[in-house]
This record gives sequence, structure tokens and C-alpha cells, in this order.
Amino acid sequence: MVETEIITVDPLNPDDKKIEKCANVLKNGGIVAFPTETVYGLGACMYDRNAVRKIFEVKQRPFDNPLIVHIENLKQLYEVAKDVNEKVRNLISHVWPGPLTVILPKKRNVPDIVTAHLDTVAVRMPAHPVALKLIRKLGRPIVAPSANLAGKPSPTTANHVIEDLFGLVDIIIDAGETFLGVESTILNVSIHPPVLLRPGPISVEKLEKLFGEKIIVTEQARGLIESEKAISPGTKYKHYAPRTPLIIVESENYTDLSKIVSGVLDLVKKEIEHGKKVVIIASSETADYYGGYDVIKIGSRKNLYEVAKNLFKVLREVDKYEADICVVEGFDEKGIGLAIMNRLRKASGFNIIKIR
Ligand code: TXA
Ligand code: MG
Repeated sequence: MVETEIITVDPLNPDDKKIEKCANVLKNGGIVAFPTETVYGLGACMYDRNAVRKIFEVKQRPFDNPLIVHIENLKQLYEVAKDVNEKVRNLISHVWPGPLTVILPKKRNVPDIVTAHLDTVAVRMPAHPVALKLIRKLGRPIVAPSANLAGKPSPTTANHVIEDLFGLVDIIIDAGETFLGVESTILNVSIHPPVLLRPGPISVEKLEKLFGEKIIVTEQARGLIESEKAISPGTKYKHYAPRTPLIIVESENYTDLSKIVSGVLDLVKKEIEHGKKVVIIASSETADYYGGYDVIKIGSRKNLYEVAKNLFKVLREVDKYEADICVVEGFDEKGIGLAIMNRLRKASGFNIIKIR
């Protein structure tokens, strides 16, 4: 056990002195949980192999699952990656700082422990003022996975981090809720055509427009199958899952909500007949149709950003109902909806019912 200090800062205008203190802890080999615009990360100085090793140990993360390098300026990009062609430069100029991670051929500066001995590196410039200031005060890239225990939903508040990592990390910076709630989009631009490895807040539609090319979206990126080969090594591990088993009820068409509601109700009634306790995760448009059952509202279908923002919080809440099964409504795969469905399908262990 270590002594964990919780430092509260203003998310938009973080106090210099407090962030300097955190940067000093990183300089001295410590590990610090900090907010990004997507989820909280658990950071170490990229060049400090011992601190990086601590991150894997504390999270119980397998060493073959590489970390994202967080940078604050473009000089740091060229410090860690090579072969950054014009198309990639154009893409990042439009979305950075922001929730896009690119996979590029790595430079030797990056310790092998960070990239799990791959010859590529994952890089992103986060858009959160606290994250940017922390990297700036350290003066070096920060490597950071999401600040949850391996297998648990990613943390979107400092309290989630405290639940998982109190007593294991040196500092937890509390800057309230993160802005987006799902992890960054990951795009492999080290191969051609580029491949989406993880859907996120920057949509495929937007990436194709900015990159000027078709982007490969695999079944695995949609969360429909587990990847056998470790294209993005993280994708082969069980993720985000509450203890309560999830079943996702999906439809081909979310304009007619009566279909999804009757699909959910049929399933719920069947489970209850078998003596099971059930909780439902539903949109604000449909929640009222499940009167009499335990329902968690996840947000409006008209604003999928709201659903994304609540997603991991809701997945952490599920277990409090001590149900035998949790029935979850599916969402349209458009825009950030693809990221939502990828996380839900994986959290369910691919336990999906399709309504026609
Ligand atoms: O929004 C985010 O990306 C958050 C915040 C903290 O920045 N970070 C995050 O990190 O989600 P993590 O470690 O939970 O997920 C990173 C994913 C993993 O699935 C990992 O396998 C993949 O990125 N990854 C890292 N380096 C890679 C590489 N060189 N090639 C392919 N995939 C890689
Ligand atoms: Mg993670």
C-alpha cells in the first residue's frame, strides 16, 4: 500500500502550484491518476521504465497490452514516432488536441515496455486542460492507460478511480466528471488503408472526411467478435464488464422504438418466470415503458453524446441492484453510437439478441 493523496483542481483553470506538485511526483518515479476529456488516465513519465512497470502492476494489466503516449506539442510527436506523412499531419491538425489516438511506427526513444515490444506506438494529444498542463510541467510525454483495474469499466470521475486504485497510486487528481465518457478513437495509420482499432468520440464518418479515404471498420471494431490476433492487443481481453451478466437487445432500426421495447419486455418476462431478478438499462425515450421493473436511465437517443457520457457510470451502477441479469437496449451505430455499441457488446461478452 502507498499513501494516496487526492488533489482537487478546477478542470478548466487548474492551479499551477498543484499541477507542479503532481509533475514533481512523476519526475521522481511516482504514478498519478489524472483527467482527460475522455476518461481518467493513470500516468507515468514515458522515460521512467520502473514507473511504467508500476502502472501495469497496479492495474493488473498484462504486459503484452501496450500503453498510449500522451503528448502536449508536436515536437513530442516526432520524439516518439516516425513516418508521419502529410495525410496524417492534416488529420491531426484538425482533431488535436482531442480524442483521437493514432498508431505510427515508433522511434527508439520509446521504451519497449510502453509498446509491449511492438514496432508501433499509440500517440494522442488530449484536450483536457489538466492533462495538458501536467504534461507541460513534466516536460516529457506521459504514458497512461485508463485508470481502472483491468477488466473494470473506465473511470469517468475521480470517485471511480478511488474505488479501484486508492492506496495503490501516489496522487489522484480530482477535476470532476470527464467531458466525453468513452475512450479515444484509435486509428492505425501505420498501414494502408487505415484501420479503425477502437471506435470513440471522433466518428468514422468524420475520420473519412478528414483523411480523404475509406477507413476499414472490422467486425471486431464494431464489438461483434473478439480479435484472435492482437491487432490492438487490448481488444482480446474482457472489458468494461460489471459482475452482473448483460444481454444487449439490438434492432436493425431504432426509428420504431416499439420493437425494441417489446423485445426487452419479452426477455424480461421470460427471465422473471425463471425466477431471475432483472434490471434494465434504457434510453430516456423508452424507460417509462418498463414501469414496475428496476430501470437505469442512460440518456437520450436524440443525443448519443449524453449516452456515451453516462455509459461507464451506469455500468458501474449495475452491480448495486444485485440482479441475476441486466437487459440493455441497443443504440444506433451512427457517429459516437458505434463507440457505445462496441463497449456494450464487449461488456456483455457478445451476448446479443437481435430483434427483426
Ligand atoms: O481516451 C483514451 O484513450 C484513454 C485516456 C486515458 O487517454 N486511454 C485509454 O488507454 O483508453 P487504454 O490503455 O485503456 O487503451 C489503449 C488501447 C489498448 O487497447 C491498447 O491495446 C491499444 O490502445 N494500443 C496501444 N498501443 C498500441 C499499438 N502500438 N498498436 C495497437 N494498439 C495499441
Ligand atoms: Mg482501458
